[in-house]
Amino acid sequence: MIISSKDNSELEELRIRYLGKSGQLAELSKEFKGLSPDQRKDIGLLFNDVKTAIQNAIDSSKFSTLTSQPLAADPSLPGINPPLGHLHPVTYAIEEINRIFTQIGFTRVRYPEADWDWYAFGSLNFPADHPARDDWETFFIDVPSHPKLGNIVLTPHTSNGQVREMERLKNSPPVRMINIAKCYRRQSDVSHTVMFHQFEGLVIDKDINISHLKGTIDYFVKSFFGPNRISRLRPYHFQFTEPSFEVDISCDLCHGQGCRLCKEGWLELGGSGMVHPNVLKAGKIDPEKYSGFAFGWGVERTFMMKSGVKIDDLRLLYSNDIRFLNQF
Ligand code: DAH
Repeated sequence: MIISSKDNSELEELRIRYLGKSGQLAELSKEFKGLSPDQRKDIGLLFNDVKTAIQNAIDSSKFSTLTSQPLAADPSLPGINPPLGHLHPVTYAIEEINRIFTQIGFTRVRYPEADWDWYAFGSLNFPADHPARDDWETFFIDVPSHPKLGNIVLTPHTSNGQVREMERLKNSPPVRMINIAKCYRRQSDVSHTVMFHQFEGLVIDKDINISHLKGTIDYFVKSFFGPNRISRLRPYHFQFTEPSFEVDISCDLCHGQGCRLCKEGWLELGGSGMVHPNVLKAGKIDPEKYSGFAFGWGVERTFMMKSGVKIDDLRLLYSNDIRFLNQF
């Protein structure tokens, strides 16, 4: 890159000024008269070198102006810092949830996002065509169904991992699974997105009872939300647990007053309960010998209810607006 290049008329001026008949070098050479022959010889050699150097500098500048572009950038300006990205807030939440559960002996697993009806519903004690299936607003994939496993669906919950995990462990407890995955339902409003994440816990062993479920939930709530948030279990109904509960946590946005997001001061995180004997049977585990508990919560809701994170529309998380995401 040529930092300064001059046009030809400027170069001609320079040549005349330094190398011309009455130029500065010619003026200088007049002073050689008073020198001895030896001195004149030495200074003459130096003089010629200087003359050649000036001539070369002018010539190379002339060449440059013909072949090079003028300077396009100022190399003395400070550089542009490339913007540094970070992980999506939901990815951070998943990492933290994973850390909390692996600390108490759960193993993180993943199962297919497009799965057979059998794993998403059938094995979870949903008879074919049972109306309870409607709550899962399921997307069906348009491919031929399997004679035993049924249709392929986009997993509407992470509970599809329950019987798959029992099979992975060759139907022999103990089971301590944490399945964190994408889920899909035909829903979109301030507290729902079509794609969202759930984390599903499943514990099966001898003598597992409700106090283990309660203790695990309390441990998680304390670790993730801090000591100031309260959780509660509300009796509910799920096909795959008996008894079943919904887990609520006090809303951080309005501190229990009721707002656009939570309405009544509590936000539903998801379900839980004691694993239904029919689900254990579907996983070829004897319900007379073993019992278990399970829970499945939304990652986005869980993240939103975390202290200091105030989002009043869940859809913002997936709107790809960098101004929103940069806040985390
Ligand atoms: N799969 C349920 C849902 O998506 C949540 C759930 C409820 C998971 C009870 C569980 C459970 O493991 O025991 O709404």
